[in-house]
Amino acid sequence: MKFAAQLGIGLVTATLLTMSLSATAQHAFNNADKAVEYRQKALSIMQNNFAVMGDMVKGDIEFDGVIFAERANDFAALTAIPWVGFSQPGAQPGNNTDALPAIWDNWEDFVERAEQLQTDAKALQTAAATGDESNIRQAFMAAARNCKGCHDQYKD
Ligand code: HEC
Repeated sequence: MKFAAQLGIGLVTATLLTMSLSATAQHAFNNADKAVEYRQKALSIMQNNFAVMGDMVKGDIEFDGVIFAERANDFAALTAIPWVGFSQPGAQPGNNTDALPAIWDNWEDFVERAEQLQTDAKALQTAAATGDESNIRQAFMAAARNCKGCHDQYKD
């Protein structure tokens, strides 16, 4: 019963989403706590993909060009996801979060860093598609610098 009820709500939500797509942008969450949860989960899945590539770049696991390219594709897609979770009113700085208030005092810088990560992730995706290990290593390191740079400024 409960599942059926949830499914019903899911279908209604899906219909509403489809209907509203052309009208206004629709967040995948509707309050500050959910916004924090959303961005943390997105960052976490993004990191899962990045970590596998990191293990290969460091030589902790054997380099596999096919798997690397798959992870690079998912990573590039995922780098676009977390940021909307910072812009929800009330999610600033939010509950149960490591996000520092400095983010919202320096919003343009934060957004630039998020965009740079996406640019670097696309470059990594391109390098991975060519399979050239030295290009891949360079592109990976460029992407990795974004993580640390932003965390140093904006993460507790
Ligand atoms: C534009 C800034 C920015 C960039 C770039 C960035 N992060 Fe973060 N990251 C944050 C902030 C802010 C938090 C804290 C989010 C919170 O707790 O609400 C965070 C949190 C995380 C978390 C913890 C998520 C959780 O479960 O609470 C992980 C994992 C993470 N980042 C991985 C990465 C990796 C890997 C990269 C680079 C590939 C990266 N981040 C790049 C800002 C950034």
